Amino acid sequence: MTRLESMIRRLRAQRDCLNLAVSLMEEIPGPVFELGLGNGRTFDHIRTLLPERKILVFDKKSTLGLKPRPVAENLIIGDVRKTLPEHLAEQSQRAVLIHNDLGNGTEEEGVEMCEWLSPLVEQSAAPGCVVVTNSALQLNGWRQITIPEPHAWNRYFIYQKPHSA
Ligand SMILES: C[S@@+](CC[C@H](N)C(=O)[O-])C[C@H]1O[C@@H](n2cnc3c(N)ncnc32)[C@H](O)[C@@H]1O
Repeated sequence: MTRLESMIRRLRAQRDCLNLAVSLMEEIPGPVFELGLGNGRTFDHIRTLLPERKILVFDKKSTLGLKPRPVAENLIIGDVRKTLPEHLAEQSQRAVLIHNDLGNGTEEEGVEMCEWLSPLVEQSAAPGCVVVTNSALQLNGWRQITIPEPHAWNRYFIYQKPHSA
């Protein structure tokens, strides 16, 4: 497979995982957390699927000139390891959809991210919350959902927190 084909496959899997995740949580009220604004591609996709939803976006940098971009009060700039716990301490509302697209998706980075991000995701999630993530997470008692693109089984992961938790 060429690098171009691999990238097309990865982006298609990302889109299909987000579409599936939204179908699982769209009836549950609450905000979305987007971890990693980057070029804003997935932010744009999520806001199109969930136009009425508050989407809080976390990134260590604010990409200038990005269109569309989150409104200022919904864009939280800084290292998410610091900004997300600060946000959770200030706001009681928990997320019903979390999309993690931090980092570069390499295996080494994924192992490290799993360690620090899994507890943060658990603290961020409301009952029934769905997480789409580019690295595997350890979420106690959550259900892992089969992703729609079988070729991307080790690149994207979907989990759902029990509704009664
Ligand atoms: C792959 S890009 C996100 C791509 C984006 N979802 C899109 O569709 O265009 C990863 C982003 O994560 C951000 N990032 C990586 N580590 C971070 C951290 N510890 N805290 C906050 N942002 C981080 C980077 O600045 C970068 O913008």
